[in-house]
Amino acid sequence: MKNPIILAIDTSLDETSVAVTCGRRVLTNVVFSQIPYHQKYRGVMPALAKRLHQEKLPIVIKKALQNTRLKMEKIDAVAVTRGPGQAIALEVGIAEAKRLTVQYHKSLIGVNHMVGHIYSAFCQNRNGLPQRDFSFPYLCLTISGGHTQLVLFKDHLKFELLGETLDDAVGEALDKAARMLGFGYPGGPIIERLAGLGDPDKYPFSVPMSQQPGLDFSYSGIKTAILYKIQKMGKLSKQNTLDLAASFQQALIDSLILKILRALKQYPTIRRLIVVGGVASNQKVRQSVRRQFRAYEVLFPALPSVFTDNAAMIGVAAYYYWQKKQWFSPVSLERQPNLSF
Ligand code: KG4
Ligand code: ZN
Repeated sequence: MKNPIILAIDTSLDETSVAVTCGRRVLTNVVFSQIPYHQKYRGVMPALAKRLHQEKLPIVIKKALQNTRLKMEKIDAVAVTRGPGQAIALEVGIAEAKRLTVQYHKSLIGVNHMVGHIYSAFCQNRNGLPQRDFSFPYLCLTISGGHTQLVLFKDHLKFELLGETLDDAVGEALDKAARMLGFGYPGGPIIERLAGLGDPDKYPFSVPMSQQPGLDFSYSGIKTAILYKIQKMGKLSKQNTLDLAASFQQALIDSLILKILRALKQYPTIRRLIVVGGVASNQKVRQSVRRQFRAYEVLFPALPSVFTDNAAMIGVAAYYYWQKKQWFSPVSLERQPNLSF
């Protein structure tokens, strides 16, 4: 049977994104990033995000259809992120997805955004590359601005949450540290750039949650630690700033590696790792994970556009919901800001 063509929408936070996918192939992935609009507030403003989603979503849908030279009539299903995310942002995408399914008589698929992030490691370009066949089980680390999770991926759409952050996400910690050092949003790429020029051993931070058992994460302690350090040091020289960024990034990476090691000890039969989310685009993170886990197959997303929030990963995940006939009626699909696995 021919794979369905899916129009996917993600408005979970600060990106207005629409993709067209066919199976695992991404035919187009349009992302309107709201980052410049939120930058002056140094973080995401939910009411502004909602207004921008409302304004931009119709334009982004039109662009995605134009890019693929498809009309709505040729689309088989509309997929949309139903959670987790910002409630008032999610509802913009959901309302539009419902409208399209009713107007054009299409199937409706509600996708868990975190499932989307995991499937981002299997997104292919329009020619079906890379092939990357599934070989379960996987241990997945999702590191983004909103989440830090360790998940067992047992089979299609079968997940077990092993650990998650008790407070800030790792991306959020990077964003806040950048702000404390006097830089803008998003902080992850800024810290990565600074850290590349600094000494990671100069200001040793204790590795978050290394003294506590279990697979959960916590980054509020290290956030306070860097704040105190900055206050104590007074005016920072350029070199101080670079060294602080490098030391902070190193402690975060060490905490991620430590949790993966612990999880693999608990599940010794696992041979494959997946690392996804915005923070996974950090070269030092990728290098460190690859180096530490040479004996494992380590998968990062192959397409650069699917690390941070995007609709392509939602469309690819939706294909598996479709295969399992997990459809919604427009009445039953509701936003779920705190949706878990
Ligand atoms: O996946 P994403 O869009 O967030 C959520 O789904 O919540 O990722 C955004 C996060 C931000 O915190 C950003 O600072 C971080 O990913 N990020 C990075 C890099 N690029 C983005 N962190 C570290 N290094 C990067 N190169
Ligand atoms: Zn996300």
